[in-house]
Formats: sequence, C-alpha cells, structure tokens
Amino acid sequence: MKIDSLERLLVHELKDLYSAENQILGALPKMAEAATHPELKAAFKEHLEETRGQVKRLEKAFEHTEFGPHGEHCPACAGLIQEGEEIIAEIEAGEVRDAALIAAAQRVEHYEMAGYGTAVAFARKVGNHEVADILTATLEEEGETDRKLTRLAEKVINFRALAAS
Ligand SMILES: [Fe+2]
Repeated sequence: MKIDSLERLLVHELKDLYSAENQILGALPKMAEAATHPELKAAFKEHLEETRGQVKRLEKAFEHTEFGPHGEHCPACAGLIQEGEEIIAEIEAGEVRDAALIAAAQRVEHYEMAGYGTAVAFARKVGNHEVADILTATLEEEGETDRKLTRLAEKVINFRALAAS
C-alpha cells in the first residue's frame, strides 16, 4: 500500500496498532505468569481480556476503510516486549521483578496511547468519525490501564520492592 494521503497514513497507523495488539496478546499471559503479586497477575489477566476486545475493535475500524488489518509488523512493539522478556529472564521472581514488569508494561501502554491518539486525530481530520469513535474507546481503556498500573506501583509494588531490597 502506497502511503500518499492522510487516509492511507491512518490505515498504516491502524495496521501498526493491529500488529502491536496481537503481539501484546502473546506477551500478556507470560507477564501474568512471571508476576508474583496477585493484584498484578490479575491486572495483566484483565488487560489480556481487554486486549482481545481491542483487536476486535480494530477489525471493526477496518470495516470503515477500504483495507484489511494485516500486512504490517510493528518492530517497536516487538522491541518493548523483548525488553519485558529480558527483565523476566534477568530478575528472579518476586517484588523487584514485579516492579520491573510494571515498568515494562507501562512502556507498552504509552506506546499504544501515542498510536491511538494519533490515529484518532487523523480519523477526525479525514472525517472518518466511525473510526475515531471506535478508537477513542480503546484509547480511554489504555489510559485506564496505565493509571491502574501507576496506582498499583505507587501504593503496593514499589513499597514491597523496597522492603525486599
Ligand atoms: Fe492494547
């Protein structure tokens, strides 16, 4: 697909996000498995369910374009996930690893929020309000996940990581 218009740049962003979400679907079960604190495990599992819905939303968004969701690989998301996997491998299970897992997960959330924020702005600009509305729902969900991880880190996990040091 030649990217020669804002409409096509929007489609490119959507394909990039579709690749990212599918990679995240593969990573979240490993992150839940690697976490120790039950609230963090639960947060990753809950976000796995949400991510399934986000993939469906992107598929719905593509129905409002002339293109399909496949054909892009998002190397940035692959890199963020790889960092998370390295942390799991390097730090033994426990409170410090939990703090590191949140740090890795929030990098992914911020990457997604940047992608969805841009896609919503492009969709509104080209007048594709269906896509803008669909993606806004996911953007809000990612923001809520990010805030939840911040609360969990600052109220529970970072204290435990410090105490375990
Ligand atoms: Fe997501």
